[in-house]
Amino acid sequence: MNKKVFVTRNIPAVGLDILRGKGFEVDVWSKKRAPSRRELIRELRSKPYDAVLCLLTDTIDAEIFDAAPSVKIYANYAAGMDNIDIVEATKRGITVTNTPNVSSQAVAEHAVALMLGLTTRMVEADAFMRKGKYIGWDPMNLIGTDLSGKVVGIVGTGSIGSHTARIMKHGFGARIIYFDAKPNEEIESSLGAVRFENIDDLLAESDFVSLHVPLLESTHHLLNANRLHLMKRSAFLINTSRGPVVDEDALVQALKDGVIAGAGLDVFEHEPRLARGLSKLSNVILTPHIASARQSIRDQMAVAAAGKIIDHLSLAL
Ligand code: GLV
Repeated sequence: MNKKVFVTRNIPAVGLDILRGKGFEVDVWSKKRAPSRRELIRELRSKPYDAVLCLLTDTIDAEIFDAAPSVKIYANYAAGMDNIDIVEATKRGITVTNTPNVSSQAVAEHAVALMLGLTTRMVEADAFMRKGKYIGWDPMNLIGTDLSGKVVGIVGTGSIGSHTARIMKHGFGARIIYFDAKPNEEIESSLGAVRFENIDDLLAESDFVSLHVPLLESTHHLLNANRLHLMKRSAFLINTSRGPVVDEDALVQALKDGVIAGAGLDVFEHEPRLARGLSKLSNVILTPHIASARQSIRDQMAVAAAGKIIDHLSLAL
């Protein structure tokens, strides 16, 4: 009998085609939005699926595992896996996979784009033009901030953090400092990056703080009100990791009070909802979790997730 896969959202055909080419029966959630929890449970109960290809918008936990006892693998179409209860999956012998590395350069570029957007005031400038406010060149209009030669504090130096460090070092002559549980010899030797054992010290020294940690209990609200107050008043915070790494209410307050200069955010604590007041601030740039949104990357993620399912269910690609 054909192996059955449920895909919780329409993803690039290249991944679905690989699965179908290997004889899988592939069912794809057909709506443009994510399935609700109840809808997901209903779909999973409808057939004895062998695998689920899920997204970061699906919370996969004991209730879902109970609803789909035949599923042997949840292949997450994302670099992060915080939407899946890995401890519970492990207890039940269920495999969980992700699509790491393929999106690292794109996400790093997005982090850097947010830095550039803030220093050049690009978004404010665009709004200024569209509102017809440009009445002639003014030497004091929309004054930005230098990016070159600044101190960039990278929090988490996995693949994305390391790529960000590389772009900032080679492109902008940044001095790279980093905080990570373990030393990253590669960026130390190639970029002269300096490790800080205490994140508080890194926050106090950085002109830009760029977050690249996974969401874990230990990183939840890693940037809280106290830590935001350790940053320079001229510093910018960039978050392309996971929203709950930052206490978003505390960030709004810090941005309002001028505790830090600005923030570039691609992720939010309670997506898709924004903390009250965030969208009213002119010293933030907000993007809707699109750091890896390039066709080539989405295709590679689809291929990677499909490959994980095929490998796990022991079929040769
Ligand atoms: C996106 O946030 C991802 O984890 O791939």
